[in-house]
Amino acid sequence: MVKLLVCVAWPYANAPIHLGHVAGSLLPPDIFSKYHRLLGNEVLMVSGSDQHGTPITVKADKEGVTPETIAERYHAINKQAIEGLDIEFSLFTKTHTANHFEVVNDMFLTLREKDHLYKKGTQQYYCPRCEKFLPDRYVEGRCPSCGNEKARGDQCEKCGKTFEGGELLDATCLHCATAPEMRETEHYFLKLSAFQEPLIEWVSGKEEWRPSVKLFTQNWLEGGLQDRPITRDMAWGIPVPLPGWEGKVIYVWFEAVIGYLSASKEWAKMIGRPEEWKAYWQDPEVRSYYFLGKDNIPFHTIIWPAMLMGYGGLNLPFDVPANEFLTFKGDKLSKSRGTSIDIPSMLKRFEVDAIRYYLAVNMPENKDSDFSWDDFETKVNNELVATLGNFYHRVLSFTYKHFGEVPSFKGSEDERREVTDAIDHARREVSSNIEACEFKRALKAIMDLAQFGNRYFDAVGPWALIKKDRERCGSALNLNLELVKALAVMSYPFLPRSGEGAWMLLGQEGTVTSAGWDAINAALPGGQKLKEPKPLFSKIAVEKEGAASVFKGFEALNLRVGRITDVRDHPNADSLLLMQVDIGRPVQIVAGLKAYYSLEELKGRKVVVVSNLRPAKLRGYESQGMLLAAEGGEVVALLSPPDDAEPGQAVNSGMTPGEKQIEFKDFQKLTLRVGTVLSKEQVSVGREIRCQCPDVEAGSRVAVFLPAPEAGEGLLLFTEKGAPIAADARLPDGANIR
Ligand code: MF3
Ligand code: ZN
Repeated sequence: MVKLLVCVAWPYANAPIHLGHVAGSLLPPDIFSKYHRLLGNEVLMVSGSDQHGTPITVKADKEGVTPETIAERYHAINKQAIEGLDIEFSLFTKTHTANHFEVVNDMFLTLREKDHLYKKGTQQYYCPRCEKFLPDRYVEGRCPSCGNEKARGDQCEKCGKTFEGGELLDATCLHCATAPEMRETEHYFLKLSAFQEPLIEWVSGKEEWRPSVKLFTQNWLEGGLQDRPITRDMAWGIPVPLPGWEGKVIYVWFEAVIGYLSASKEWAKMIGRPEEWKAYWQDPEVRSYYFLGKDNIPFHTIIWPAMLMGYGGLNLPFDVPANEFLTFKGDKLSKSRGTSIDIPSMLKRFEVDAIRYYLAVNMPENKDSDFSWDDFETKVNNELVATLGNFYHRVLSFTYKHFGEVPSFKGSEDERREVTDAIDHARREVSSNIEACEFKRALKAIMDLAQFGNRYFDAVGPWALIKKDRERCGSALNLNLELVKALAVMSYPFLPRSGEGAWMLLGQEGTVTSAGWDAINAALPGGQKLKEPKPLFSKIAVEKEGAASVFKGFEALNLRVGRITDVRDHPNADSLLLMQVDIGRPVQIVAGLKAYYSLEELKGRKVVVVSNLRPAKLRGYESQGMLLAAEGGEVVALLSPPDDAEPGQAVNSGMTPGEKQIEFKDFQKLTLRVGTVLSKEQVSVGREIRCQCPDVEAGSRVAVFLPAPEAGEGLLLFTEKGAPIAADARLPDGANIR
């Protein structure tokens, strides 16, 4: 039995995690750890939400909320999504904790004491218009090395190049698009240059690293290491723990990587053995594995190792099996109707094992792989369901029906050997490939065994044999059940639910996890009662692209949640009101609502705003948007965003909000109606239409987009957080929204 430390890149808490995070960095370590736990090894697997830095503050600025609100919101969402995927961390924590602050401060102060840090004046981007320094993501520009137009101040995501400040071409301020200037400011620097030689030496010994990871790292090292500023001029983050440094925080990357250590310490405290982290960090025999996407490589193969070398006494990474990217070019994903690829939405629509299966067979291990809904549907239905699911079900249901229990094996050793050889072969393949972090190959060996099982079952022909020779049939079924058991255990690291499900249907004691990896080879004694079988997987149906484009007109709209901050009578028109509305940015809107609402009712009210209409002057005042309201009979009523919606949030029904300006006359051609939810798939707009509304209570009054006035299918209006827009109860079904 050995110990292993499994470190997983910390997802930023600025959005829900999506399929790319799972395929790239979250699923591989879970497969790896589940396998090692089955072997009886002790795995400490840690990660958490990366809650600081400009990824969080940029999002917070956009929504007009505090960085902490964003950081906590997405931490909760992502922690739950990870659990929903059956990914098992020893601890999934976050960086905004007292424990993390303490460990980071210790690292910072120790490195400073040991002379690996120094302070220096440096030129950084500064926006003269916003009167602020512009750290990292607050500047965008062209990458000098690959030409990517949207490179950020600290890194180009396309080519992986990192910047010191000042290198971007045609840089602009993210807030106001002004060209920034360079200004002097003082920062702490990590003396990375001093680690060049030790790092080259260390990396050269890394035989087991993936060639791409090693090559990338060596190229970086050969390019020469420059000292890097590790503090920033901003308020959100871990304050520099020194007097006189108020208003500056530690750079998010410098502190996030320390999370592996702080989370290990937090875990040790949590289990009541506060020194236990040392067993995973100080014993040189214990290997540490770091799972991440390729854009994170330099931080884990250069910067973090340099920090560890400088600090001293802690293990360096053993392996860094970085994945390439899962790309989405084959699909206008966010454009299909509500078919978002974020994990909370995926979990609502598909079984966990279907998602895990697809991401494992399509894992971007050695090159980018592409996601498409078609491919997802095909692989789940034709491989997972048709091969593994089919084998489980036909064996279990046939045996259950004719025997009700595990029949005894009465055949010869030779007969048995054909099956046990196939199991042994698969077991070796799966083991060696998982241990080498070659997950796709391991899964292929499992599917090959399931395929073998199907052929074997066919060759036995139990439906005929049972009539001729019941005992021989039972004996052959015993071997088939042994295959089911072997598959249940072997597939468990990939497909934990169905693995445990098959185990349970076999009437086995305990669980796969309690039985362990060796249960693959244990013989299956006769007499064990079987449970009534049910299929462990079901086919999926994904709505097709063609159907998605039915909602084409909706894509042009950019709808936002707004809050009316100020409202008064229009000076030049009796029926109009002039209001200021916060939609993440302030806009002025002229609206004809005076006959229906008092000023008091409007002030502070949340509304839905069409934010990309071409601005128009109405009696001398510019109107920069339109409030959505419905009209039916005598009633005119504004649509209502959900209670927890914040100004600026998109009302996008799972699509990408339109970016171009639209003309009022084009907006008028669109059909928006008030409806009542009848069921998960039906809404009444005066007549029944099909409309996906899985999480909305029947009877709710909603707003629906129709591709044409007579269309049989509609699209529910909901926010980017998945909450529906409500319509006033007094309005009749079918009332027009404009
Ligand atoms: N939050 C980073 C990203 O999503 C990854 C940080 S990994 C850490 O790209 F180890 F530094 F936390
Ligand atoms: Zn600016």
